[in-house]
Amino acid sequence: MPEIRNFCIIAHIDHGKSTLADRLLERTGAITEREMQEQILDDMDLERERGITIKSHAIKMDYERPNGEKVIFNLIDTPGHVDFAYEVSRALKACEGALLVVDAAQGVEAQTISTLYQAIDQDLEIVPVINKIDLPGADIEGVSQQIVDLIGCDHKDILQVSGKTGDGVDLLLEAVYELIPGPGREKDKPLKALIFDSIFNTYRGSIVYVRVMEGTLHKGEGIRFMATDKEYDAEEIGYLKLEKMKTDKLEAGEVGYVIGSVKSLQDARVGDTLTTTKNPAKEPIPGYQEVKPMVFSGIYPTDSDDFEDLRSALEKLQLNDASLSYQPETSKALGFGFRAGFLGLLHMEIVQERLDREFDIDIITTVPNVEYEVHKMEKSEVVKKIVDNPSEMPDPGKVEQVYEPYIKASIITPSEYIGPIMNLCQERRGNYINQLHMQSNRVEITYELPMAEVVFDFYDRLKSSTRGYASLDYEFLEYRKGDLVRLDILLNGDPVDALSSITHRDKAYDLGRKLCGKLKELIPQQQFEVAIQAAIGSRVIARDTIRAMRKDVTAKCYGGDISRKRKLLEKQKEGKKRMKNVGSVEVPQEAFLAVLSMD
Ligand code: GTP
Repeated sequence: MPEIRNFCIIAHIDHGKSTLADRLLERTGAITEREMQEQILDDMDLERERGITIKSHAIKMDYERPNGEKVIFNLIDTPGHVDFAYEVSRALKACEGALLVVDAAQGVEAQTISTLYQAIDQDLEIVPVINKIDLPGADIEGVSQQIVDLIGCDHKDILQVSGKTGDGVDLLLEAVYELIPGPGREKDKPLKALIFDSIFNTYRGSIVYVRVMEGTLHKGEGIRFMATDKEYDAEEIGYLKLEKMKTDKLEAGEVGYVIGSVKSLQDARVGDTLTTTKNPAKEPIPGYQEVKPMVFSGIYPTDSDDFEDLRSALEKLQLNDASLSYQPETSKALGFGFRAGFLGLLHMEIVQERLDREFDIDIITTVPNVEYEVHKMEKSEVVKKIVDNPSEMPDPGKVEQVYEPYIKASIITPSEYIGPIMNLCQERRGNYINQLHMQSNRVEITYELPMAEVVFDFYDRLKSSTRGYASLDYEFLEYRKGDLVRLDILLNGDPVDALSSITHRDKAYDLGRKLCGKLKELIPQQQFEVAIQAAIGSRVIARDTIRAMRKDVTAKCYGGDISRKRKLLEKQKEGKKRMKNVGSVEVPQEAFLAVLSMD
């Protein structure tokens, strides 16, 4: 039996993980140059466009050492975004080592560090690598020092490579063999296989990707998912090369896939342990968690006739994405729709975009919000209620106490931006924890922040106030008390439920005033006057008015410029697609997201 090395690549977004992975595949002959497409591991269109690896995969390579010895390398890909932190942690658990890849021009970033800490927690061997050494702006010495400070290695232990030119890649392959320990190979124990990813196939059901930690899985054996207690047969098992390669058994230390007509991803969850029904393991691999949605938003069809289509689209998406949750809800303003739960903002954007592209459904989404725990009075008793839709927050008089989720955010930035970042965090009700000075004039700033303040454009603001230099990473902390109120928006006296938001009392007045102003800009003039009001309970705190339309819109295209007139009308028609009638007022999609576009 050849030796095995199971490893992954830890890198901040755009530090070149996919490019380097391509080189490794090429050098080991896992792909020929002809098969070589740019970034072969990212196979969804959307992923490619965003340049983000959304779903983790694994690939087996046959490495031949300079002395002719053959070794099996399994490269396990990890998603690169904070939203998918749990998937990352399980992918790490399937490995014995990690390449810590740092861009020679960018240096260490927030995500590099957070994933690195996770890898160290799992006792992985860390192989430090500076990538993109071919760049003219490469600062190899400076970045080297950052890495030495971070993991306490020696300068000479840091490999230097270029994923682009292939420089240093051969040495890197040998270092993977030399430095990363081989996996345990106890193949006679009861089976424990860690599911680090799963995808759904319409014909074959769930395909689960596993790392066998102990024991052996034979083709055709009865299998059990330990967290869900569901049982199936391992109809097909195999290795993951560019294509699937069938085999008769998977042994301790190996990485592969299992197909067993598993009807839903809900049965075969990432992080769960697979065992056999005949000789089951006593305990699962520790650390299984059910992923919990953190961000919620309403999703409504623009055209109410599309409701059933939207439902079936969400069902299909959920087959592929076990972390998406949704349930039907009704809004007075938007009609029948769904409240969907997401891991984070990026996850939400991806789902919304897929609905639009893959299912061609025009949707209206509401401002994202977090989940609150509300203690309210009911018949002189305090009852707990979970609120994931702002319009369901009880009226001020009935609320005893509201708890909101907090996160710990770590921001890495060149030191000249400390001021703007602290201002931003302060403005977002952050508690300053500390700051750590790193090499090359860079600082890690830690804050505790209400998650609600981060789901609103925090990331964009952070990027714009640091000219793109700061990077952010966060983790959930706990629920904390907050003086929070529901802010309602009324159009001509009618509350529009889909425009309600939850905000800190101190910010309510300012928010109400700005929202009214923004809505005045976004809602087109109608045949009649429209009053926009912001209110807390029955108390109106801000007001604006949209005056009635006086003239035909095309009237301002004086003269006989027909084409311009036509363009204007067409543009209007386009805009109509995403309008909703709220009472008698026509409200465009952007209005439902007005909060997000305010300064
Ligand atoms: P995510 O999947 O978004 O995390 O990105 P990634 O880390 O996989 O980065 P990717 O491989 O997509 O590379 C990001 C950018 O850097 C691309 O434009 C690459 O062409 C470029 N790049 C990657 N490696 C090198 C390198 O060694 N040298 C140079 N000059 N550019 C590189």
